[in-house]
Amino acid sequence: MTARNVFVLTGAGISAESGLGTFRDPGGMWRKFDPMKLATPEAFTADPSLVHEFYNLRRKGVRVAQPHAGHRALVDLADILAGRGGRLTLCTQNVDDLHERAGSRDVLHMHGRLLSARCVSCSSSTTWDVDLSTQTPCPHCGHRGGMRPDVVWFGEIPRHLDEIGEAVREADLFVAIGTSGAVYPAAGLVDRAKRLGIRTCEFNLEPSDNADLFDEAEYGPASEIVPAFVRHFKDARAGRGRTDRSTGIVKS
Ligand code: OAD
Repeated sequence: MTARNVFVLTGAGISAESGLGTFRDPGGMWRKFDPMKLATPEAFTADPSLVHEFYNLRRKGVRVAQPHAGHRALVDLADILAGRGGRLTLCTQNVDDLHERAGSRDVLHMHGRLLSARCVSCSSSTTWDVDLSTQTPCPHCGHRGGMRPDVVWFGEIPRHLDEIGEAVREADLFVAIGTSGAVYPAAGLVDRAKRLGIRTCEFNLEPSDNADLFDEAEYGPASEIVPAFVRHFKDARAGRGRTDRSTGIVKS
């Protein structure tokens, strides 16, 4: 059997070669800045201008970043799986829109989106690609001072958890790309998959914190190893190479 329903979890590593910094690598954002002062509801209450400054800079970075071959390969993977009557569930911890700009649809952003702003007063979300400040009025209710980045901060509940749980249960292959496995609940998904008997693969620059939970691993830059992985699927479809019975990965 080749994989038909694939669950892919991506992290900051897939966007690293697009110029967006990771968090925990040497030089990563949380090596330079204290996340408790920038990425918590308490930080926003204590110093909203500082939090806005941090996210305004990151928003600018996202606007100029471009998706790479790794992002684009996941679009191909969705097409290949659809052709087999299956599906790709693409779940990301990233707040950038590089998967969407590569062409992926229905991406589950479990940590929210940077190009969206939310009003703490009326809870409405608005597509947002410019700076936010403590004086920005909500376009819906007009309240000033309550617009915040529409991202999930430490201490807040990640999004789409029911949908994610269901998609993992239905998957026959779980793939993690460019994530250190340090932040839960995302980091716990591989364990859940493993307990369900689902085959697990890791694609990363180096072994992640939970590398021992993966059945297979490939280490290298995402722009190279993700397209190579998807090529295996293409070859399997074309009947070339020796197909791994569970993953559909072709070993030449
Ligand atoms: P991390 O910075 O913790 O991990 C990034 C991973 O990507 C590391 O394991 C790197 O080895 C790997 N990596 C770096 N460059 C790569 C490349 N070119 N190709 C492949 N892999 C590469 O980032 P995340 O695991 O995504 O949450 O972090 C999870 C969450 O922690 C983020 O969503 C964010 C952060 O705090 C919130 O802000 C709530």
